[in-house]
Amino acid sequence: MRRALPLLLAVLASTAWAMGGQNMVLGRMVQARPDAPSVAATTHARAHYVLHCGGCHGMDGAGSPATYVPDLRRLGLWLRVDGGREFVIKVPGVMGSGLDDRQVAEVTNWVLSTLARDTVPAGHRPFEPAEVTRARQQPLTDVAAERQRLLQRARAQGVAID
Ligand code: HEC
Repeated sequence: MRRALPLLLAVLASTAWAMGGQNMVLGRMVQARPDAPSVAATTHARAHYVLHCGGCHGMDGAGSPATYVPDLRRLGLWLRVDGGREFVIKVPGVMGSGLDDRQVAEVTNWVLSTLARDTVPAGHRPFEPAEVTRARQQPLTDVAAERQRLLQRARAQGVAID
């Protein structure tokens, strides 16, 4: 311990010298500006998915059975169930995402045309912003109950979602 002390002091001193010296400058220091405009405005639907949905549903849409996050790769199945079309844009993750009506329509259309492509029924009409506006006026009060109700209906219609 006694022999280690001078060594420790020497290391500390040389570190302090290096930190003060020019050698430690790794890049130009830029002042943080919270009001700085983004150089790449996030307008693309995929970017909205990554920022607002992918954190929970996964970048590939697979979700997580362990945490009850549904698999969005089979989102198209909901479109085959009466009431399913409204349901998928009313869930809290979508309505509470902070995206506006046009963006919700875009991100949902993006999921359906990419991750969930294989489950989308023929003749499907893309979502319109006005549809999202209407859906917002009738929010879901009990998501789990509505999902169960629609799952039963899906089974009755022969659509296997879960
Ligand atoms: C904080 C985590 C989280 C985020 C963020 C999130 N979701 Fe979800 N999402 C869930 C969970 C949990 C459920 C299941 C419970 C429910 O229906 O709310 C769900 C359900 C859904 C459903 C219904 C599917 C089904 O099978 O029931 C859709 C559609 C959906 N989310 C789409 C989205 C989209 C699109 C976004 C981004 C705009 C998004 N979610 C953001 C967690 C999230």
